[in-house]
Amino acid sequence: MGKGTENLMPKRIVAIINQKGGVGKTTTSINLACGIAMLGRKVLLVDLDPQAHSTIVLGSSPDSYSATIQDVLVNRKEISGVIIKSSIDNLDLAPSNIHLDKAEQLLIPEMFRETRLSKALSGLDYEFIIIDCRPTLGILSVNALYACNMVLIPCEMARFSLEGYSDLLDMIRLLKRGDYESGKVALRILFCKFDSRKAISNEWVFKQLEPYKSILFKTCIRQCEALNQAHIAKESIFKFKPASHGAEDYLSLTKEFMILCSQPEIN
Ligand SMILES: Nc1ncnc2c1ncn2[C@@H]1O[C@H](COP(=O)(O)OP(=O)(O)OP(=O)(O)O)[C@@H](O)[C@H]1O
Ligand SMILES: [Mg+2]
Repeated sequence: MGKGTENLMPKRIVAIINQKGGVGKTTTSINLACGIAMLGRKVLLVDLDPQAHSTIVLGSSPDSYSATIQDVLVNRKEISGVIIKSSIDNLDLAPSNIHLDKAEQLLIPEMFRETRLSKALSGLDYEFIIIDCRPTLGILSVNALYACNMVLIPCEMARFSLEGYSDLLDMIRLLKRGDYESGKVALRILFCKFDSRKAISNEWVFKQLEPYKSILFKTCIRQCEALNQAHIAKESIFKFKPASHGAEDYLSLTKEFMILCSQPEIN
């Protein structure tokens, strides 16, 4: 977990981002991180949302932490002093709580405010770092975009889920220009909460995303009540209900993700 040389740079830092609320960012962060950890690979989940949903599921009560990711971003505390072990082998957590909300304001006058997370993560000894973003495109999300080399956008299969998509894609292209074109940064869209009975909405969303066909994950995450219940039980879907559609889909996503990550250049 300590600092090291550049050789120890994580292979993949994944920002799970969408300024739309409730589309599946946290559910995907938790279950993708757990899926990777189950394969025996070292993963860090960074909770970059003051709502602290990943922290609630994988850690303790958000108020119980004396130091969180907010201290790393605002007070430049070493991230190794904030990271905790989760109950899952190979999976660590950089927790968050409501105080992270103040970071958006506190960072405004600061130098290098957009690259604080990137700097904090550099040299950490993890193969994968997953960043669960908040549903806004403020300074926290900009930090996640600067830090990452893969952007995963969960998309709900609903009419209004695509509003603001072009703002998000413009921002990603602006921040990642060059890296994106050269294949150093990957961009992928993941359909979440897919319900085959909603044929008309599904068809509409698929049609709108036709231009992005090449960057859609083949895996779709189906609507699955067990995913909700797993959050309540503070467990991954793999432990909570391994025979569910949710577990099947997140396992499929994990495999697709790992194949993608094994390619030197992705786009
Ligand atoms: N495939 C699914 N089937 C059923 N419920 C789901 C599914 N994915 C997510 N949910 C539920 O939908 C709600 C929103 O999901 P989640 O918290 O993952 O979204 P989010 O994008 O992180 O939200 P926010 O923007 O508030 O951070 C949660 O109650 C979650 O349990
Ligand atoms: Mg969330």
